[in-house]
Amino acid sequence: MKIIEVTNYQEMSKAAADYIISKVQKSPNLILGLATGGTPVGTYKYLVEDHKKNKTSYKDVTTFNLDEYVGLAKENPQSYHSYMNEHFFNHIDINPANTHIPNGKIESIKDEPAAYEELIKESGGIDLQILGIGQNGHIGFNEPGTPFSSNSHIIELAPSTIEANARYFESPEEVPTKANTMGINTIMRSKEILLLVSGENKRQALTQLLEGKISESFPASALLNHPNVVIIADEAARSGRT
Ligand code: F6R
Repeated sequence: MKIIEVTNYQEMSKAAADYIISKVQKSPNLILGLATGGTPVGTYKYLVEDHKKNKTSYKDVTTFNLDEYVGLAKENPQSYHSYMNEHFFNHIDINPANTHIPNGKIESIKDEPAAYEELIKESGGIDLQILGIGQNGHIGFNEPGTPFSSNSHIIELAPSTIEANARYFESPEEVPTKANTMGINTIMRSKEILLLVSGENKRQALTQLLEGKISESFPASALLNHPNVVIIADEAARSGRT
């Protein structure tokens, strides 16, 4: 596990974008795993800026997103489909057919996650997976207690996750209670993982991760078993630790 220490959110976003850009330039047909939420918004902004200025092309890149809320249609402005279009896909030259996001309007809770899993495998597997981390240590929407052996699945969101994500909805009652997410095993099969951690409210989670104890009660600790993880963490997330 390698840690890149940066000062603040802007620096984290720029460092993450530069990391991704260099991978895409080296491997134009990169298979990229993507995250949503507040953390990577700045990264997408820099990727879009770079695409416009330096013409880094995504036309042969394939993407797989980590998760989607169950119950939200693609068109719902709160869906992660809308998020990805707004922050990234609409502004680059990616082929929409090469972008994949778990389905929120899921019909078969068994077949659809299994099909997503298959699609990732058929593509050759994720080369670089971008991750954020929940305050409770979740990665994707794999909440504490999720087996490390889990593949893509439907999960019940923890009350603390619903509370944390209520900021994007009119009220906490509107936050979906379930998500369709890659499993921990799905994430762990990525060849490389880039974990972004910013802000004081992630300090406890980062501290716990770096303590190095591996337990299913803290999902991000699975990453300690992965041979190729890079963490970019800002000062607020690191304070008092590194
Ligand atoms: C998002 C995802 C989640 C978030 C995590 C942190 O696709 O899978 O694990 O990365 O909830 O969210 P933010 O960045 O909003 O603090």
